Amino acid sequence: MYEQFAQFYDRLGWDTYAKELWPDFKSYLDKIGFKPQTLLDIACGTGALCICASKGGIIAEGLDISDEMLKKAGANAKENGVEINLYHRDMSNFNLYKKYDLVTCTFDAINHMIDFQKWLSMFKCVKEHLNDGGLFMFDMNTLKDLKENWNNIHIKKYPAGDYHISKSISFGDMACVTFTAFVKKDDLLFEGYEETVREVSFPLDDIKNVLLNLDFKDIKIMDRRFIEVDNIDMLTRAFIIATK
Ligand SMILES: C[S@@+](CC[C@H](N)C(=O)[O-])C[C@H]1O[C@@H](n2cnc3c(N)ncnc32)[C@H](O)[C@@H]1O
Repeated sequence: MYEQFAQFYDRLGWDTYAKELWPDFKSYLDKIGFKPQTLLDIACGTGALCICASKGGIIAEGLDISDEMLKKAGANAKENGVEINLYHRDMSNFNLYKKYDLVTCTFDAINHMIDFQKWLSMFKCVKEHLNDGGLFMFDMNTLKDLKENWNNIHIKKYPAGDYHISKSISFGDMACVTFTAFVKKDDLLFEGYEETVREVSFPLDDIKNVLLNLDFKDIKIMDRRFIEVDNIDMLTRAFIIATK
């Protein structure tokens, strides 16, 4: 998974998500007076969130299931002059034998696990890896999003001449998207990549209950501005924060 993606992920600007998210999330952490010294970013991809945190003085580490994404993350860290430990692990079941102040999992990476038992197992692993009082923050595409926004075709041409086509189809609580990228080479030819990803979602109330059953506290379901919303059913992407 994501072995092809790694070749064009940053080039098509998908690292921007984490780069734009981090300052807003950091402002939220400042607002609640939480000052993490250590961070584990689960499904860290090409390392954007880890690099932002690291530049802000946090000791950041990442894990991901894709070797190729991790290679890019390592190269990006080097390019940015930061050191980040990276682990090749499946987020549904991992043990790094250490604990962190903050654990994150962003850009709907969690939706890639199609079995709810795996979400449960991941939450257990996260808890094992958090210091007491530590925070777990993840975002997810909601059922509303998969039902309403995953039946389309988007074609985008980038300034450098690259093309990106995404074709998505929704089956209700599950959806598939095929990404096709044509990356422009110097000799006027294109290099083509294609990968299909499946995402699944579950009711936010079920997720909240599972987290409560695992003894996470102070669970907040928020929007992208890290503001708690009255009607969580309106969210297409939810940001969930839970405290150990
Ligand atoms: C949409 S990308 C998000 C990457 C990064 N968090 C970001 O914001 O750019 C999803 C990432 O989840 C990773 N992933 C998917 N399933 C995984 C699993 N079971 N365990 C660990 N990583 C996984 C993929 O390899 C990919 O890097």
